[in-house]
Amino acid sequence: MSKTAVVTGGASGIGQCSVERLVADGWTVWVLDLSEGKPAQFADQPEGAARYRFRQCDVGNAESVKAAFEEISQSTEKVDALICSAGVIRTGSLEDHTLEQVNVMIDVNMKGPWLCVREALPLLRKDSSVADPARVVVVGSIGGIRPKVGTGFYGATKAAVHVLTGVFAAELAPTGVLVNAVAPGTVATPMIESVQNQREGSGYRLSGDSPLGRIAQPDDVVDVIMFFLSDAAKFVTGTVLPVDGGTRAAFIKK
Ligand SMILES: NC(=O)c1ccc[n+]([C@@H]2O[C@H](COP(=O)([O-])OP(=O)(O)OC[C@H]3O[C@@H](n4cnc5c(N)ncnc54)[C@H](O)[C@@H]3O)[C@@H](O)[C@H]2O)c1
Repeated sequence: MSKTAVVTGGASGIGQCSVERLVADGWTVWVLDLSEGKPAQFADQPEGAARYRFRQCDVGNAESVKAAFEEISQSTEKVDALICSAGVIRTGSLEDHTLEQVNVMIDVNMKGPWLCVREALPLLRKDSSVADPARVVVVGSIGGIRPKVGTGFYGATKAAVHVLTGVFAAELAPTGVLVNAVAPGTVATPMIESVQNQREGSGYRLSGDSPLGRIAQPDDVVDVIMFFLSDAAKFVTGTVLPVDGGTRAAFIKK
């Protein structure tokens, strides 16, 4: 039987790439996002399209998340994997950030994964065990490990979600739910295009190349997400794994 995944932020970037990979691997996938961004490839893949579901949801809003998981629970008793990729970034110095900017980052990046994991738990726990665990993968950020001027508050929300990943992992381990995070460096997605548009006057500079000589593509991150969903990772929980081409390891003087 097809496994079921829920992907927040699945309409764009890393989330959308995860959806494409999961559907291609035979999963049934629910996308929770503000608006739909159905992968174009499904147009000529009716079998894949039949396993794709979209539900409009604001992950920072408790009622919206509750309603989304209520709808999901009407069509499935079990969710095998939850990928929390929805995220927003606002650039600026800590001095200049507005309360509105800070609130949206807290709501989406920090409260979002917490709300989604909580609402998903009855479905994740169904038939899961230490031997056959359900999986949660949160998309954190290297900014939560090595903070940067110009995205300081964003980095703080990502550091917070790394902490939540670890504590959820320990709390949920006995019921067979594994919780891990990927911490990408710069990834070529619409988010990074928006950062480039916002950076005027923010003090923020893109890292550019990693020691491996390039920024990441969404597939680089999704490879690691798929590892966390695989049998090979059945004894891995509470991990925050950088996917940054070595950017965090050491500064490169150019
Ligand atoms: N792109 C990067 O360089 C990079 C680096 C490190 C971490 N990340 C993280 O990766 C994740 C995915 O980012 P991306 O680069 O794919 O960005 P993206 O902008 O391409 O995709 C983010 C998705 O999240 C959705 N979203 C935003 N607010 C939402 C809300 N309130 N409710 C539901 N969905 C919402 C957007 O509609 C969008 O579809 C984010 O958590 C981001 O912080 C990105």
